[in-house]
Amino acid sequence: MDRFVRWFIIMSIVYLGVASLVGIAMLGSERAMALKFVHSHLNMLGWVSMMIYGVGYHILPKFMGRQMYSKKLGEAQFWIANIGLVAMLLFYTLNVYSPSDTLVAATVLAGVLEMVSIFLFFYNMLKTLIPPVEQPG
Ligand code: HEM
Ligand code: HEM
Repeated sequence: MDRFVRWFIIMSIVYLGVASLVGIAMLGSERAMALKFVHSHLNMLGWVSMMIYGVGYHILPKFMGRQMYSKKLGEAQFWIANIGLVAMLLFYTLNVYSPSDTLVAATVLAGVLEMVSIFLFFYNMLKTLIPPVEQPG
C-alpha cells in the first residue's frame, strides 16, 4: 500500500474520533451546537471522504489491472485535502466565536483548497478508470 494511501485511512479514523467528541459536546451544550458544520464536515470530508479516497486509490486501479494514473497527484491531494479541511474548520470555528470578514474570507479560501483536492481525486481516478483496457491476444 502506498504511504499516502495508508495515511488517508489513518487520518480518516482520526477525524472520526475528533468528530465524535464534537458531536458529544453538541449533545450537551447549545453553545457547541454552533459547531454543527465542523462536526458534519469532520465526518463527511474527514471520516467518509478520506476513507473512500484511501480505499479507492488502493482498490480501483487493481480492478482495472493497472497502476493509478499518478502517485504524485495522489500525494499532493493528501496534503491539500488535509490542510484544506483543518484550515476550513479552524477558521470557521474562530469566526463563530469572534466574527470577522478576514476569518470568513480565510474559511472560503480554505474551502476552495478543499475543492481543489476533490478535483485532483476526480482527475486522477478518471484518468485511471476511463482509458480502455487492452484485451490479451
Ligand atoms: C458519537 C458519535 C456522534 C454524535 C454524538 C453525534 C452527534 C450529533 C449531533 C448532536 C448533531 C446535531 C443534530 C441537530 O441538528 O439537532 C449531529 C449532526 C450531524 N451528524 Fe453527528 N454525531 C455522531 C456521529 C456522526 C457520524 C459518524 C456521522 C457521519 C458519518 C455524523 C454526521 C452528522 C451530520 C451530517 C450532521 C448534520 C445533520 C443535519 O444538519 O441535520 N455524525 N450529530
Ligand atoms: C469543499 C468541500 C465542501 C464545502 C466547502 C462544503 C460546505 C458546506 C456548507 C457551507 C454547508 C452549510 C452549512 C450550514 O448550514 O451552516 C454544508 C452543509 C452540508 N454538507 Fe458540505 N461542503 C463540502 C463538502 C461536502 C461533502 C463532500 C459532503 C458529503 C460527503 C458534505 C455534506 C454536507 C451535509 C450533510 C451538510 C448539511 C449538514 C450541515 O449543515 O452541516 N459536504 N456544506
